[in-house]
Amino acid sequence: MTSKQMDLVIRNARIFDGTGAAAIDGDLAVAGDRIAAIGPSLDCQGHEEIDADGKALAPGFIDAHTHDDRIVLADPSMTCKVSQGVTTVVTGNCGVSIAPVEIDFRPPGPLDLICPDPSDFFASFTDYFAALEASPPSVNVIAQAGHASLRVAVMDTFDRPARDTEIEKMRALLRQALRDGAAGFSTGLYYPPANAAPTEEIEALAMVVNEEGGFHSTHMRDEADGVVDSLNETFRIGRTADIPVIVSHHKCVGLANHGRSAETLKVIDAARANQPIGLDVYPYVASSTILRKERLELSSQIIVTWSDAVEGLEGRDIEDIAREMGLSIEETVDAISPAGAIYFMMDEKDVRAIMSYPPTMIGSDGLPHDRHPHPRLWGTFPRVLGHYCREEKLFPLETAIHKMTGLTARTFGLKDRGILGEGAFADLVLFDPDEVIDIASFDAPQRPAAGILRVAVNGQTVWTEQGAHDARPGRVLRGGSEVRSH
Ligand code: ZN
Ligand code: CU
Repeated sequence: MTSKQMDLVIRNARIFDGTGAAAIDGDLAVAGDRIAAIGPSLDCQGHEEIDADGKALAPGFIDAHTHDDRIVLADPSMTCKVSQGVTTVVTGNCGVSIAPVEIDFRPPGPLDLICPDPSDFFASFTDYFAALEASPPSVNVIAQAGHASLRVAVMDTFDRPARDTEIEKMRALLRQALRDGAAGFSTGLYYPPANAAPTEEIEALAMVVNEEGGFHSTHMRDEADGVVDSLNETFRIGRTADIPVIVSHHKCVGLANHGRSAETLKVIDAARANQPIGLDVYPYVASSTILRKERLELSSQIIVTWSDAVEGLEGRDIEDIAREMGLSIEETVDAISPAGAIYFMMDEKDVRAIMSYPPTMIGSDGLPHDRHPHPRLWGTFPRVLGHYCREEKLFPLETAIHKMTGLTARTFGLKDRGILGEGAFADLVLFDPDEVIDIASFDAPQRPAAGILRVAVNGQTVWTEQGAHDARPGRVLRGGSEVRSH
């Protein structure tokens, strides 16, 4: 009897299934876009056979928090992500999404982080997904509709609550977005285009998510002194609409709030007893977004990532720029805006405590269009695996992997992804647990990590140690089908 023919067989791997269970030694076989078998010494033959030599094989990583809405079209190789082992990205975070928006002016920040040019937006998710499916990227995409994008689409000024007629328009746009396949609804209440929105405005929109199915994620109103109030606002929205909520990039910013993760994690833990709450974190003490005066006081150092007003500032410390221009720091912000920046504003102990908290997922929050991006764009996942897991021993490897795979798939309701099992999609990463590490740094942020040996998406290889492959097997994972509604 001849053994079964498979497309790809990876032999002698330490297999981590993504559930958080310890690894088993064995082989994994892929037929088409699915995992056909897992076990010791599989009796089958692959068109392609790989000897893993005892290296770690895991489900492809799911980046729980991205701003990859436009880069998946602009640079479908997605080298910044596949080089880390990422096979799926969650887009539309912090209230900012590429659809449904039809405007003819430069959008206010932070929408300009993804689409400085109004023609880059899509009028509907149907149009956006059609573009993605006509020209697929290497990774899978789960998209959210953003509150700030809805506001910019229907309001003429943003420094006020939406009127009833505007709320109705936003509800209709959000309903259509969810029906078109957006999987969730995000807010960025911290940011100017959304900050004047009262909780009731968000609740009115969250009710649409209740009716259509999905989740709500939020860059909260306040991650500094008011962080606990903001957590409570987030939980209230989740309870009112009876939907799962996700606290994005949880952190406690500003010197005065360092150490407060002890308090916030207790508050989150207590609330989790009564309602579904998820959270994500990136493994750095510096944040990054548009350049904002509010952040000056809270930061010990600020690096400019881009400026559309003054050329050649990317990668430079704002204090040096101010000195050269003969301006105060605040005047410098005005002079070089619109611009982006990296802010050193968190406490290492808080980052570790939040990352170690069992429900916390890993998300990069990378900004792929920044000229000198925060290194999290290229380094997040290998940094958790190599630095925090192997070197700092924050948690075992199976836990680190779970935070990037099975936990994330469960939190977002992803079917047949984030786990290794017969019949699951063949999103895979093979890596060397002794070598994996981030190479991207604040000085040189666009460098692929070390130790990511091979990455496959829907059964097709997109990355090997030699670099990115030409395959573009990524799919749109629509809410309600590929992504289960709640
Ligand atoms: Zn954010
Ligand atoms: Cu974000």
